[in-house]
Amino acid sequence: MRNGKHPADRGRCAAGLMACLLVCLVVTGGCSAVSRHEILSTIFDGVPSYQPPEEFCRDYHENSKASGGKDLPAKDQAGESGGSQSSRHQPYEEKRCDDCHDKTKEGGLVTAKIELCFQCHKEFIKGSYVHGPVAVGECLACHEPHTSRYASLLKADKNQICSVCHREKRLSIALHDKVSERQISCSDCHDPHYGSASYFMK
Ligand code: HEC
Ligand code: HEC
Ligand code: HEC
Ligand code: HEC
Ligand code: HEC
Repeated sequence: MRNGKHPADRGRCAAGLMACLLVCLVVTGGCSAVSRHEILSTIFDGVPSYQPPEEFCRDYHENSKASGGKDLPAKDQAGESGGSQSSRHQPYEEKRCDDCHDKTKEGGLVTAKIELCFQCHKEFIKGSYVHGPVAVGECLACHEPHTSRYASLLKADKNQICSVCHREKRLSIALHDKVSERQISCSDCHDPHYGSASYFMK
């Protein structure tokens, strides 16, 4: 349990395990305030968490930092599984570099990276269930800002991009085993961004 770091929360556990779990999860925060919705809905659905979500995120960030953001599958290998089709971002094509870049600002971008994409992709998030990295504005975890050899500016092949982060055991193993056998894309069933049903089912 992650509440080890928060001794003050332990006392509250007496009030009931569930309450404590909620308090601890909410207090310790996860990736951001936005992802709490997902954490809470996971608990209320009675679905056991496969891995504490905040650890999930931390691992991702640490790996990402350690590898200088290059933790995605090698593009050359990924491309061979088919379905690739290159793409170019419209503002990049139109040489509207200044829509995103500003040398005078820290980081060289017009705004913080996690806010940048929402400048134009306004009201992007529509479902009540939001995917962790989308909720925190980590679009660049999956997308390139300029061009990609894959469709939709993806950083890796559509069939491989989910497993960059999702290596944990599925609850519904039988179902997902069939998926990998048959080479169906995760995003054939799950929306990669958000949804109105749990697990962003399409
Ligand atoms: C939609 C926003 C956007 C537009 C438009 C855009 N960039 Fe970028 N660019 C980014 C982001 C975000 C990064 C940082 C990528 C990262 O850190 O993963 C970046 C990184 C860069 C880098 C650093 C090296 C690299 O490729 O990562 C250069 C150089 C660059 N951009 C040049 C340009 C030029 C030149 C244009 C116009 C032709 C342009 N960009 C248009 C968002 C944009
Ligand atoms: C300056 C405005 C602007 C910014 C900032 C911006 N986009 Fe876009 N983006 C567009 C436009 C315009 C299109 C093309 C029309 C559309 O699909 O909405 C587009 C399309 C896309 C597409 C679809 C590409 C395709 O081939 O289907 C993706 C993916 C995307 N953007 C991701 C991002 C990400 C990730 C960021 C942040 C790094 C970002 N955008 C920031 C304007 C922007
Ligand atoms: C977990 C990976 C992931 C993250 C994070 C992510 N996307 Fe995507 N995105 C995808 C995938 C996969 C597709 C292609 C979907 C398909 O082809 O079925 C896509 C497609 C898109 C498209 C093309 C139109 C569409 O909706 O299919 C846009 C625009 C887009 N993403 C914007 C964004 C923005 C803005 C963010 C950040 C708020 C973001 N994405 C974060 C995986 C991601
Ligand atoms: C950048 C890392 C990253 C990538 C890539 C990624 N995910 Fe996630 N995913 C997360 C995080 C973080 C969570 C949040 C875990 C939580 O809050 O329970 C999550 C949660 C989910 C959940 C909900 C699980 C639950 O128990 O509520 C589903 C479903 C999911 N992802 C599917 C996908 C699919 C499909 C793809 C590929 C399109 C994908 N993910 C790619 C990081 C990622
Ligand atoms: C054929 C449709 C289908 C495909 C393709 C699919 N899933 Fe799922 N996924 C489901 C369903 C249905 C559930 C809900 C299962 C439940 O309620 O027990 C689910 C649940 C999940 C969950 C949350 C609960 C769990 O089992 O851990 C995650 C995370 C997830 N899927 C990730 C993925 C990833 C990653 C891929 C691609 C490798 C993928 N899914 C492909 C149908 C699909």
